[in-house]
Amino acid sequence: MAEFTLHVNGSEKKVDVSPDTPLLWVLRDALELTGTKFGCGAGLCGACTVHVDGEAIRSCLTPVSQIGGKSVTTIEGLSANGLHPLQAAWIAEEVPQCGYCQTGQIMQAAALLAKTPNPTDDQITQAMNGNLCRCGTYERIRKAVHRATNGGAR
Ligand code: FES
Ligand code: FES
Repeated sequence: MAEFTLHVNGSEKKVDVSPDTPLLWVLRDALELTGTKFGCGAGLCGACTVHVDGEAIRSCLTPVSQIGGKSVTTIEGLSANGLHPLQAAWIAEEVPQCGYCQTGQIMQAAALLAKTPNPTDDQITQAMNGNLCRCGTYERIRKAVHRATNGGAR
């Protein structure tokens, strides 16, 4: 075990865990931020996507020892009131079915929009390619990403 100081959702958090513990389990078990989901544990589904210094990463594959002083953002910290433009668009388009993959979808889309504020369909497809949805909500996800870029007007 070792102590790590993490910057999560704007706050400093100390955790005492094994250095090889995946960030996912530190978030969920040590910090009780259970919005981030475990899907495959192998980097294949995207359910565990969070931001590290603004980049979308797979927290199931990222040991806590690699985080250092970087800034971690989870779905709980994406916006102060739960209404990031993507979250509002997700509600408006009624995107989720079972909902399990949707945290990862939103975090992946948020990283895309931070760099590409008005993405094309192809850019959305490419960016979201590694985020699987067993319920097949891909078309609604695409619509919601467009809606979020357009102030909800679409
Ligand atoms: S749980 Fe991390 S990619 Fe599937
Ligand atoms: S909404 Fe069910 S897996 Fe995506």
